[in-house]
Amino acid sequence: MATGTSGKLAIHGGAPVRDASKSWPSWPIFDDTERTALNEVFESGQWWYGKRVARFEEDYAAFQDAQHCVTCTSGTTAIEIILQALGIGPGDEVIVPPYTFIATASAVARCGAIPIFVDVDESWDLNPDLIEEAVSERTKAVMPVHFGGRVCDMDRIAAVADKHGLDVIEDACHSWGSKWKGKGTGALGRCGAFSFQRSKNITAGEGGAILTDDAELAALCRSIANCGRREGGAWYEHPVIGTNARLTEFGAALLSAQLSRLEAQTLLREKNAAFLNEKLGAIEGLTPQPGDERITRRAYHVYCLRVDPAIFGCSRERLCEAAAAEGVPFGAGYGAPLYTQPAFATVPGAPDYTACRCPVTEDLCTTSGMWTLHQNLLGSEEDMQDIVDAFTKIKEHVHELAD
Ligand SMILES: Cc1ncc(COP(=O)(O)O)c(C=O)c1O
Repeated sequence: MATGTSGKLAIHGGAPVRDASKSWPSWPIFDDTERTALNEVFESGQWWYGKRVARFEEDYAAFQDAQHCVTCTSGTTAIEIILQALGIGPGDEVIVPPYTFIATASAVARCGAIPIFVDVDESWDLNPDLIEEAVSERTKAVMPVHFGGRVCDMDRIAAVADKHGLDVIEDACHSWGSKWKGKGTGALGRCGAFSFQRSKNITAGEGGAILTDDAELAALCRSIANCGRREGGAWYEHPVIGTNARLTEFGAALLSAQLSRLEAQTLLREKNAAFLNEKLGAIEGLTPQPGDERITRRAYHVYCLRVDPAIFGCSRERLCEAAAAEGVPFGAGYGAPLYTQPAFATVPGAPDYTACRCPVTEDLCTTSGMWTLHQNLLGSEEDMQDIVDAFTKIKEHVHELAD
């Protein structure tokens, strides 16, 4: 038996696998790189959109293998700007998964369009087999979410989208650094949206970006994000209805510093996740989020695990409680499919979402899905072994965990 797995469960007063002297990495990670860059912006007096924003946009586009990057204030704003730029509005439908943060679907509704929910599959990503039956004459786009950083099956999604003339908009808000067959997410379809909000794998507290290989679309997104101005146009000339969604120089300074660590952090998370996949995947009743050999680099925004309570021997909730007591933080994630959120009942022209049934999402939300946060994958080999020891110990004592 591995160290730490013997003895009474911590939830029942036994010694935990990890005692209080051990902590998990905190987030965000920062050092003098951020301090110096922020101070430089401060002292320069150029706080507003300038060369640091331009530099970050260039570097981030290159990092994700995209031609163009337009930064903005959040991932939500990025999706809203994209939808406006693609001319998606009232009467249009956009296919989205229901296992995601609300912004994926609420941005669609904010543009006056209708989110159509299509279930995910065992990968936790949009099920390509179910897209076609959800397509109507009003469908304009499909918005796959690379959940947790796991890239969706972009080949099959592209095939359905091409057949029906739909735009593919990637919600890449979890997938900085992920690659599909060697190319970064964001510009795998028509365009993609990224978030740099505080919990994200690179962060400026808030922030967002749009990536695309389409120069015209990038220019339109930039115009929308900059009050509808035109590049090279006069200050008070506004050919487009836009908004003010510009990133500040402070935001760009932070993001450039964060980006300088992203590759090394992504590789470490991948290595630690591979270890967990092997060890946790060997425990009966636990299934890590499946991979795909076409995903040639994987960001981990969260590390996802599915529990089958009947096989493992206790409910997800008891498992999370027992793991927390052993010093290993896992949470149950989204508690309900997005289509049950009261906000969507108010969307004009929307279908009756109470009739919506997405069984895999429902199972993930209510019964089987659990995650730990990306910063925990930046821990040491000993930290990863502690995760394995905690689940092994719980499994060995699972009969003591009556629900
Ligand atoms: C999948 C997904 N899409 C969109 C967003 C929205 O990003 P932001 O919080 O930057 O608006 C998030 C943020 O959590 C997200 O997780």
